[in-house]
Amino acid sequence: MPNPIIKTATHLVRMFLPKPMAAPVDMSGRYVIVTGASPGSIGYETARILAGWGATVVATRVRDVVLMEAALKDDLRNGGADADNLTAHALDLSDSHSVNAFGAWYRDKHQGQLHVLINNAGIHRKTLAPREKAPLSEDGFEIHWRTNYLGAFHLTWALLPLLRRAGVESGDARVVNVSSGLHDRVGNTDLFDEVPHREVPQRDRPHREVPQRDRPRYHSWDAYGKSKLAMIHMAFEIERRFADTHNLHAVAVHPGVVMTNLTLPQAFRGRIGKAAHRINSSLASLVLLSPHAGAQTIVMCASRRPLQGGRYYERCDVAEPSADSLDAAASKRLWEQSERWVRSRARHTAHPAAHDENS
Ligand SMILES: NC(=O)c1ccc[n+]([C@@H]2O[C@H](COP(=O)([O-])OP(=O)(O)OC[C@H]3O[C@@H](n4cnc5c(N)ncnc54)[C@H](OP(=O)(O)O)[C@@H]3O)[C@@H](O)[C@H]2O)c1
Repeated sequence: MPNPIIKTATHLVRMFLPKPMAAPVDMSGRYVIVTGASPGSIGYETARILAGWGATVVATRVRDVVLMEAALKDDLRNGGADADNLTAHALDLSDSHSVNAFGAWYRDKHQGQLHVLINNAGIHRKTLAPREKAPLSEDGFEIHWRTNYLGAFHLTWALLPLLRRAGVESGDARVVNVSSGLHDRVGNTDLFDEVPHREVPQRDRPHREVPQRDRPRYHSWDAYGKSKLAMIHMAFEIERRFADTHNLHAVAVHPGVVMTNLTLPQAFRGRIGKAAHRINSSLASLVLLSPHAGAQTIVMCASRRPLQGGRYYERCDVAEPSADSLDAAASKRLWEQSERWVRSRARHTAHPAAHDENS
């Protein structure tokens, strides 16, 4: 694991360097999906900038979609751009029905046109100290794995036929996976132990008392890092599979350390709590990037032509990901494992049409 002191020092030095900015590109005629675009987030700025440059953008979040759409449209109008370029839609990546319903809605709404998919949505349910039990999704997966990786994989898989077609027809389709510098907290050996926790009923598991000291300890930062390592593998595998055949490219991005809903602690209750939150936010704004600055590398990867696919980007440039993320055999194995899982979900959910096209 890389030295966290070096990482922190690098971050602090960069705070005083000029912030790299994506150069504007005419995006008219390009159809883009940005997941996780709530106000105050990196996705919000990404959607706003790309729609402002003329792209037809669909922005998603889990809840309060109407409010998000109104805010984005207001910002676009205030910036002199066409607010009709943007539509919002609900999407919960941890719910297979929601992913399938979104895919069906999108195909219908935009006649199957999609040039850029930005897998930006993500969570980090931070724990300060290691715990014995992992937080689980409704269907029994560790929550970061399910939301940040499996959900994004499912969405990408459902939209692959559209992306491949756009790549062939326009010569340039892309998947931009938002990863994190924290992907290097874990290695490939951590990736393949993920099975639904409720697959084996408790009563059927072999009973064995595990001594306290041997119990696996759950750390949210490692779980988050693991989901982000998987996002890099997914991007590199898409490049290997579809770049030459379909002009479909994929990259992974570290946006920097950014002041968003994810990094800011939740507001405390009461007058004192609110005051503490305000002070906290002011201090954080001194050392964290703004969401606008954090969106720049994502926007660049979604718009610059040509762009080198199958790479990891940071500060609007190619950067070095962990050695484990470059292991092509691990990427392939993870892809096949994830594909098996999606196919098994398709048998249980309502909109299998998209899946057939990937057969
Ligand atoms: N901020 C940083 O310093 C930083 C650093 C490295 C990487 N990143 C990555 O950057 C991406 C954007 O994060 P952010 O900092 O902008 O965080 P944020 O402000 O918390 O935004 C996260 C977005 O993801 C959405 N989301 C959460 N759960 C979801 C689910 N189950 N299904 C679909 N969407 C869901 C949220 O929607 P709701 O609001 O409706 O829940 C929200 O729109 C994430 O992938 C994050 O891991 C962030």
